[in-house]
Amino acid sequence: MEYKQELQNPLMDQAMEKAKEEKMEELRAQVRIRNYMNGYADSMALKCAVENGIADIIQKHAKPIALSELAKALPLPTVSTEHLERLMKYWVQLGLFTHEKDGSHGLTRCSKYLLREENTTMAAIILGLVTEWTIGPWHCLARSLEGGPTAFRRYHGRDMWDYVAGHPEASRLFNESMAGDTRLLLPVLMQECGSWLFEGISSLVDVGGGNGTAMVEIAKKFPGIKCTVFDLPHVIRNTNSSESTGVEWVEGDMFESIPPADAVLLREAIPKERGKVIIIDIVMDIEQDPELIRAKLMTDIDMMVYLTGKERTKKEWEKLVQAAGYTKYQTTPIFPLQSVIVAYP
Ligand SMILES: C[S@@+](CC[C@H](N)C(=O)[O-])C[C@H]1O[C@@H](n2cnc3c(N)ncnc32)[C@H](O)[C@@H]1O
Repeated sequence: MEYKQELQNPLMDQAMEKAKEEKMEELRAQVRIRNYMNGYADSMALKCAVENGIADIIQKHAKPIALSELAKALPLPTVSTEHLERLMKYWVQLGLFTHEKDGSHGLTRCSKYLLREENTTMAAIILGLVTEWTIGPWHCLARSLEGGPTAFRRYHGRDMWDYVAGHPEASRLFNESMAGDTRLLLPVLMQECGSWLFEGISSLVDVGGGNGTAMVEIAKKFPGIKCTVFDLPHVIRNTNSSESTGVEWVEGDMFESIPPADAVLLREAIPKERGKVIIIDIVMDIEQDPELIRAKLMTDIDMMVYLTGKERTKKEWEKLVQAAGYTKYQTTPIFPLQSVIVAYP
């Protein structure tokens, strides 16, 4: 009898343990779905931190700051310290700020990307891309499965470049966000491949060059290169396109013609049979890091929602480059997300 009980108990314990684990897994799955469902809280909390300059206030304070001090420094007529405390808990959970033993809050590695006044910040990207007009189209994502018009067009009734052409403030913030991205990329690009990338080039045109951030910098570093910014009329007209910037500004539609130059710089698309082409874009499927993979997949869905473009694997890039009439190409991954893809005639 005793022997039988001893034999049964471990088996029962194991079965109970398994059932408990199973239940925990179910609960974790529910929590995961809930977190995905509320994912917009991450974007909005991030934007809220930038809009209120939280990182800038802590940086100016030069050491971790008490919530009461932070509340006083906020650019708001009144502050609910209770709301601030709850938001701070969320920011700390996201890794945006620290929670020190004495209850104060300091900067993390992520915080510097929220600073509004630094060159190497992502504040402009956040302010330009987390907006009502950019978030609305996601409500039409389900219908994207039908193909046809982009979610953006379904939501706003027109394509994205048309929309921004008619909304100057959206256009300004969008161009500023692209420029913010460029300011992050450019120093790395110059350091990693500036010497060979621009070697032997006497003229360079940035197709879809936005407000010219890349070209103005490249013109300063390589005064021997004649630099041209080419973009849609509303972008060029609303930019400080003076001669003093050291670059030439040309408005037009890249699907009609592109100003002649030895080399073309692009952030997307590829013109047929030109000189050297330098593309800064994502190459999918070249890494193992789950966070990076997720970021690239998200960018691909962004492309689906806003534009008709897509992110490509190395094989797909190869096919595209060959189909456009180039004989040689090389890809160099140098940014967290993007690679430099150079195609030669
Ligand atoms: C992703 S943004 C890149 C901006 C810029 N390269 C930068 O890094 O700041 C794409 C740019 O392409 C421009 N664009 C879109 N369609 C175009 C067209 N058909 N012809 C010329 N430019 C175009 C947009 O106005 C926008 O500035």
